[in-house]
Amino acid sequence: MKEASPKIRKKVLLSVGGGIAAYKAVEVLRGLQRADVDVRVAMTRAATRFVQPLTFEALSHQRVHTELFPEAGDPDVLHVELAGWPDAVVVAPATADLLGKAANGLADDLVSCILLATDRPVLAAPAMETSMFEHPPVQRNLDTLRGCGYTFIGPETGALASGASGMGRMAEPEAVVEAAMTLLSGETLDLCDRKIVVTAGRTEEDIDPVRFITNRSTGKMGYAIADRARARGAEVTLVSGPTELSPPTGVDVLRVRSVSEMDRATREAFASADALIMTAAVLDFRPESVASGKIKKSGEGLRLDLQPTEDFLVDLGARKGDRLVIGFAMETDDPEANAKAKLEAKQLDMIVLNDLNNVGAGFGVDTNVVTLIDRDRSEALPLMSKHDVGDRILDWMATVWGER
Ligand code: CTP
Repeated sequence: MKEASPKIRKKVLLSVGGGIAAYKAVEVLRGLQRADVDVRVAMTRAATRFVQPLTFEALSHQRVHTELFPEAGDPDVLHVELAGWPDAVVVAPATADLLGKAANGLADDLVSCILLATDRPVLAAPAMETSMFEHPPVQRNLDTLRGCGYTFIGPETGALASGASGMGRMAEPEAVVEAAMTLLSGETLDLCDRKIVVTAGRTEEDIDPVRFITNRSTGKMGYAIADRARARGAEVTLVSGPTELSPPTGVDVLRVRSVSEMDRATREAFASADALIMTAAVLDFRPESVASGKIKKSGEGLRLDLQPTEDFLVDLGARKGDRLVIGFAMETDDPEANAKAKLEAKQLDMIVLNDLNNVGAGFGVDTNVVTLIDRDRSEALPLMSKHDVGDRILDWMATVWGER
């Protein structure tokens, strides 16, 4: 009998910088191990002030390296050996100091020497105070490293070491692990540095305390796009109506119910984003008034007066500036003409036409059949998974951004 060839495990060198987020690197190590990645760890001296090398050593079952000059049992040129060992290097947390050294070719300790010596893809998760992150030299260093092929995940907005809240918090370990896995798979992380807002699912409008109107949207399309955008490195906010779906990992979820809640949450998230993908099936009407008590039956029929809801995509389309805004159009009659009219009326960059006459399109299913329509052309895509549709939309966005 022919023996199965042994599975080759991917290898990551986890380089830990000296910041409070060093404790999150422990979870990055664990996450990579759960994904069956072989991990070795190198730490800066400052990092060892935050987390003991022993913690990483016990978990990785490997020696943790902190010194440039080899110790007993080390190869003669340790940094070269460590630089050539992995399939990818993950720097987490990537401090301003480490990034500055890497961007300027400085190498005065083990980790900075490894970063200079390696020819493997590098994923860095910056973490620092907002004022440091925004400082022009730091931004210049990030640009330089991007030009050298570095991939970045985060930082995000949140609580910082100083107690303040702002941009500079290291991306969550699951997101770093997911980005590392994408890098290892050879997939591109072409959307890192992009903030994308995705709306998904249905909205609900109350009739009385126990009844409401809604529609059949399950949120699958929006959740699939959010998942793919995150996997490609974007920072994603998912504004979600009620749904049974569990949110994709590493995505910031804002749960809403009514049209006005979705309107508010979307506006707030879009204010600091680069793009909005509006897959939500927003209700077009709401009851003119909501009864304060349960409406009792009277033996007669009941007439419901509805008023239009706000179409906030129209407003956001008008204010988008150079940000990308993508809408969805669900159509049954004269689909392409109606979708094009919505593209114009809502000042969108692209509209994704969901022709409900197609088998495999629409609510609740894992597939979709869509046509991508922008100002210049329309492209009918075959039946494919909602994740693949998500990728095609994101490809379109990456191309537009790449051409600017
Ligand atoms: N949309 C919105 N607010 C609404 C209604 C729709 O933001 N009150 C957005 C949807 O999320 C979608 C796009 O507008 O991205 C088109 O939605 P669709 O329901 O297809 O079209 P409508 O503009 O509602 O027009 P109609 O229902 O007449 O087809």
